[in-house]
Amino acid sequence: MDKKDLLIPQFLHEYLLKASLREPEILQELRLETARDPAAVMQIPPEQGQLLSFLVQLIGAKKTLELGTFTGYSTLSVALAMPEDSLTIACDLSEEWTAMAKRYWERAGVSHKIDLRIAPALETLDNLLETGHQDSFDFTFIDADKQSYIAYYERVLRLTRPGGLIAIDNVFLFGEVARDIPKYQDEQNGFTSEQIQTVRQLNRMILDDPNVTLTMLPIADGLTLVRKNL
Ligand SMILES: C[S@@+](CC[C@H](N)C(=O)[O-])C[C@H]1O[C@@H](n2cnc3c(N)ncnc32)[C@H](O)[C@@H]1O
Repeated sequence: MDKKDLLIPQFLHEYLLKASLREPEILQELRLETARDPAAVMQIPPEQGQLLSFLVQLIGAKKTLELGTFTGYSTLSVALAMPEDSLTIACDLSEEWTAMAKRYWERAGVSHKIDLRIAPALETLDNLLETGHQDSFDFTFIDADKQSYIAYYERVLRLTRPGGLIAIDNVFLFGEVARDIPKYQDEQNGFTSEQIQTVRQLNRMILDDPNVTLTMLPIADGLTLVRKNL
């Protein structure tokens, strides 16, 4: 699977980057080092990192959560946009990928804002719910394993403060959510039918939930923004 099916033609994508991207040097370095990893396709593109930092600034977020850290690009985009006394809890399973993340967070001077939890994200979320963090997060970015998206979303919604924001990545699954005949299912690194069904079902659940406001953006692999109503 590659990113051929992305949403705007390449010439326009190049223009978009030229006309609007202000990627800090430290993020660019991290992106270029990550590009050498065979799993680099998992990293969000820089224009999406810029959108996350824009959103975090817009809502004045000081307490954020991230499911799926990888080499730390999205975490760093968010942490750089937050004030000194802010906190982001970053969840991942991989010591190896997050070791690279930690190097860059250190160099960027934001390590003190990031609490990395190496554990299944569901465990971390349940732990946060059990320890009094309900209704307290300003912003969450969901970008870990797709088959758990509904379980993540349900917990994250409880952890989000009224008026807070949840950003859910890969809501298009490279188009699989909208295809009758899968193109990337069961290929190497493709999506399983469980993942496709889960993301489709989550997209439907959010649309049908009167307690949230939503917008689904055709950026990267599809990004849904959900605001928990006041
Ligand atoms: C798509 S990548 C995240 C990319 C990252 N947000 C970025 O911008 O670079 C997904 C990450 O989720 C992690 N992951 C997969 N299953 C997980 C689980 N059950 N709990 C926590 N993290 C998980 C993987 O180790 C991987 O680093």
